[in-house]
Amino acid sequence: MNRPPLDARLEAVLALIRAETHADIGSDHAHLPIRLLREGRVGRGVIVELNPGPLALARRNVARAGLGEVLEVRAGDGFGPIAPGEVESASVTGMGAGTIAGILRRAGERLPPALVLQPNDSPAPLRAWAREHGYHLRAERLVAGYWPYPVLRLERAAGEDPAYRGLPLAAALRYGPHLLRAGSALLRRQVWADVVRLTPLAAPGRTAQTELETARAAFAVLEERR
Ligand SMILES: C[S@@+](CC[C@H](N)C(=O)[O-])C[C@H]1O[C@@H](n2cnc3c(N)ncnc32)[C@H](O)[C@@H]1O
Repeated sequence: MNRPPLDARLEAVLALIRAETHADIGSDHAHLPIRLLREGRVGRGVIVELNPGPLALARRNVARAGLGEVLEVRAGDGFGPIAPGEVESASVTGMGAGTIAGILRRAGERLPPALVLQPNDSPAPLRAWAREHGYHLRAERLVAGYWPYPVLRLERAAGEDPAYRGLPLAAALRYGPHLLRAGSALLRRQVWADVVRLTPLAAPGRTAQTELETARAAFAVLEERR
């Protein structure tokens, strides 16, 4: 437990976190916060776990790592056990976007000024949430794995998020403004796979039609910047 291994997804999350105080919500094995402390990316950490099995696992791994003094494990739902202003940043990873959005909605004034989110499905609802709740999208990664995993770093900021300037909004919300500008081979494959999957399903009035138009708009951006 000295330096627990992280998969590529959590390595990408780790690289987007640097804070004096950080909370990992839904930590399970606690590998991410243990590495954050070991590497000096975080000075003090808090883990929040909802379920008894993962809570016990997190407590055991933190004790084995000898980090009990600087990494506290708390039982609870989302940001419930975190006091307002207690942490500078938080990560919520490895869950569906709907679950993450629910955790953010319930957090209210407990939300810290920086968030690193990694949903296991479409991040569009989280990007939309950020635009409506005063967070700007500062960085994004797309990581190859069982499927392409998006990782988003959000920071509280005033005004319109400049990341979306000059891009078709639906495509940027679905595929990510920074990711569209970067135009990686992985994103191109994901967008093209969506075009191929949605083409036979699309018809006027169907959701697949709107999704196909979004995928085509994203593909046009990628082609333009090639
Ligand atoms: C699939 S695991 C992901 C673990 C780790 N974050 C990762 O990315 O590998 C999801 C964890 O979140 C916890 N969880 C789900 N909803 C939660 C909530 N509302 N508050 C705290 N923990 C939650 C679950 O108990 C589970 O341990």
